[in-house]
Formats: sequence, C-alpha cells, structure tokens
Amino acid sequence: MKIFSANIEDLRSLYIDNLQKALDMEQKITGALPKMIDSASDPELAEAFSNHLVETQGHALKVESLLREATGDASTTTCKVIGALITEAEDTIKDVTDPYVLDVALIGAAQQVEHHEIAVYGTLRNWAELIGLDGHADILESILDEEKNADELLTELSDTLNTTAEVNAPVQA
Ligand SMILES: [Fe+2]
Ligand SMILES: [Fe+2]
Repeated sequence: MKIFSANIEDLRSLYIDNLQKALDMEQKITGALPKMIDSASDPELAEAFSNHLVETQGHALKVESLLREATGDASTTTCKVIGALITEAEDTIKDVTDPYVLDVALIGAAQQVEHHEIAVYGTLRNWAELIGLDGHADILESILDEEKNADELLTELSDTLNTTAEVNAPVQA
C-alpha cells in the first residue's frame, strides 16, 4: 500500500493509480461481504450476497492480472470511498435491530457500493480505451456488467423486501 501521494503526470499513470484503487476496493468488499451474508434474514438476499462475493473475488483477480500485466506487480492504493461505505454498512448492522428493516438497510448499503463500483469501472474502461489498452477495456467491461447485474438484482429484491419491512413495522401508538 502506498503511503505517499502519487505523482500523476499522464492518463496512463492516472489509469494505473485508479486500477490500484479498484484492487483495494474489491479486496475490502471481499472482506465485508461475509458479514452482510450473515446479517441478512431473507434467504434470497443472503444468496445474492453470496453469489456476488464469488463474483467480487473474481473481480479482484481480474484487476490484479491487469495490474501485473501493466506494471509487473499488484500494488494497491487506498480507496477511501469504499472504506467509508463499509464503515457505514457496519454501523447499520450494529444499529438496526428489526430483521426486516435490517434487510432493507443492507440492500441500501450494498447498492451504494455497487453504484460506486459502476462509476469506477465505467471510467476505467473508458480510460483503457483512450490509452489503447483494448484488452483491458474488455475485461473492465465484463466486470462492469456483473456490477450492473448485481445492482439490478438488489433493486428487484428491494421491491419485495421494502414492502415486507413496511407491513411488519410495529404500529405506532
Ligand atoms: Fe466488484
Ligand atoms: Fe460489486
């Protein structure tokens, strides 16, 4: 992990720095998802998180291979955004006591992560194309598709689980 800030002079350096952040991001998500799986009450939600954990491990391997090809190693740069989103998700898991509400909160937290990943991979794919790394762009596009699918599945699950949380809400006096 880098301690000093990078000296970024060109688009390729910017691309590599952000690829290193993407690797840190995927590694952090890989570490966080098991707690999300354990905390989910709805079996379909737990399964969606489990399936995306396998995909996330694949994303980390793909990004690592791109970095090794481009730089000869797989160093990371800290992704501060994902660190903050995971801290918020962990706070939610601690704070929310109702299992129906917790499922809804977990979906919200996971979609914030997916939306960040979609932004990251959309940008990285475009930069890879611009600097002539078409093979990289194809792999980044395949990751982007899986992030979009994960996000869409969470939206579908939220259609049911948001209603479940509302129906099961305690009646206010
Ligand atoms: Fe990912
Ligand atoms: Fe993801």
